Amino acid sequence: MNETIVSGMRPTGKLHLGHYLGVIKNWVQLQEKYNCYFFVADWHALTTKYDNTEELKQNTKDVVMDWLACGIDPEKSTIYVQSLVPEIAELNIYLGMITPQNWVERDPTLKDMAKILKTKEGQGTQVNYGLMGYPVLMSADIMMMNSKYVPVGIDQVAHIEITRDIARRFNNLYGEFFNEPEPILNECSLICGLDGNKMGKSFKNDIKISDTDIETSKKVMTAITDRSRLRKDDLGHPDECEVAFKYWKIFGSDDEVKTIRCECEKGLRGCAQCKRELGDKINLCLSEIREKRRYYEQHPEIVDEIIEKGSQKARIKAKEVLQNVRDLVKMY
Ligand code: TRP
Ligand code: SF4
Repeated sequence: MNETIVSGMRPTGKLHLGHYLGVIKNWVQLQEKYNCYFFVADWHALTTKYDNTEELKQNTKDVVMDWLACGIDPEKSTIYVQSLVPEIAELNIYLGMITPQNWVERDPTLKDMAKILKTKEGQGTQVNYGLMGYPVLMSADIMMMNSKYVPVGIDQVAHIEITRDIARRFNNLYGEFFNEPEPILNECSLICGLDGNKMGKSFKNDIKISDTDIETSKKVMTAITDRSRLRKDDLGHPDECEVAFKYWKIFGSDDEVKTIRCECEKGLRGCAQCKRELGDKINLCLSEIREKRRYYEQHPEIVDEIIEKGSQKARIKAKEVLQNVRDLVKMY
């Protein structure tokens, strides 16, 4: 029997290359070896965006379409939406009862989120009860499938620690049942944004998986290069080319990277030409993924069916775990 893995993403809308290279590619490999559950954490989105739910459904679909396009295979992995598995909400209640207040108050990621909220204006600047419960709900997500491993980014590791603590506490109180899940660290995404900062939707420095070739090429032309280079026959310094050369190292072959380094250093390669070629290269690398995504965009009913079926499948496992929990807690 394969070990179980759970991971989720909040429905932030269309995903970018940072998500693909840093997270999804990793998931695609994991699904070959593990019993994988991947879900869209739409309740977690509500913890901060409860006052703006207009796009929640579409954002959820967009995330799933990106996963499918990148190679998450519904035959191998269970793809579902958190709120379509209401058993998670019931487990969340039991876990909330055994989680000391100071465990959630200590949570560093939550502290950061609270800080960001306070800088915003108008509604939604305060920390609500639901947001305080973020790590407990996340524990319910993970424990619902009695998962052994959780692939996450480094920023989520504190949450997994709380999950382990809650699982241990449950086992001590009611009897050994839950695994104490361990994080599998996603490889830090090697790709930075077009401006050299962390790639992110809100920084407007991202390339989306779903961008068209033309959009991508345009964006790549804005990538930062060697700032000391003014004319195209100035000698270049690829290692100081902050973004474009780094992208080449991700998308180009060893030979291509070697040639570009050589031509750049000798002043035989202009940055505009270099970035035009880079755009073409990225488009080529993404062509299969984008074609697949367009297919799902044109067949939204298939996406709906995958979500529906996956959520049903997740519920089967969830119901089984929940029955055990109810028995152990001695509920009616
Ligand atoms: N908090 C995670 C994030 O923002 C998303 C998430 C919710 C999650 N529940 C989870 C990740 C359970 C892994 C397991 O990225
Ligand atoms: Fe960077 Fe290419 Fe310009 Fe060299 S030629 S500085 S590698 S963009």
